[in-house]
Amino acid sequence: MLEVQNIKYSYNKDYQALKGVSLKVEKGEMVALLGKNGAGKSTLFLHLNGIYEPDEGQVFIDGEELKYDKKSLLKFRQKVGIVFQNPDDQIFAPTVEEDVAFGPLNLKLPMEEVQKRV
Ligand SMILES: Nc1ncnc2c1ncn2[C@@H]1O[C@H](COP(=O)(O)OP(=O)(O)O)[C@@H](O)[C@H]1O
Ligand SMILES: [Mg+2]
Repeated sequence: MLEVQNIKYSYNKDYQALKGVSLKVEKGEMVALLGKNGAGKSTLFLHLNGIYEPDEGQVFIDGEELKYDKKSLLKFRQKVGIVFQNPDDQIFAPTVEEDVAFGPLNLKLPMEEVQKRV
């Protein structure tokens, strides 16, 4: 379950990109979020695993409020993954194997487990 409650976010003081967005996605639900260019879709998504921290409001993952310290982020990011829009931001290793291994290696899993997951 993924929930955001009244989140507000400004990139700078003159412009608020998110003006109080609330959303709830239940387990097993598939949701398409539609909106014109610049509506704030990417800004909202980047809040769903703590890449951005809202100025106001909360994000909940499986009912637990998202916290922004390093340890909490590591935990929540194993539940919520984000695939970036621009492939150059997403895929950077020379082979698929190395690219897929990047996440598990960063979790400091043993090599055997990394290979199993890849
Ligand atoms: N890094 C940024 N710095 C300043 N403004 C930004 C930045 N990213 C997005 N914006 C602005 O925030 C608004 C929402 O953008 P965005 O979330 O990318 O919209 P969408 O993904 O729906 O096209 C737009 O007005 C955009 O210009
Ligand atoms: Mg976008």
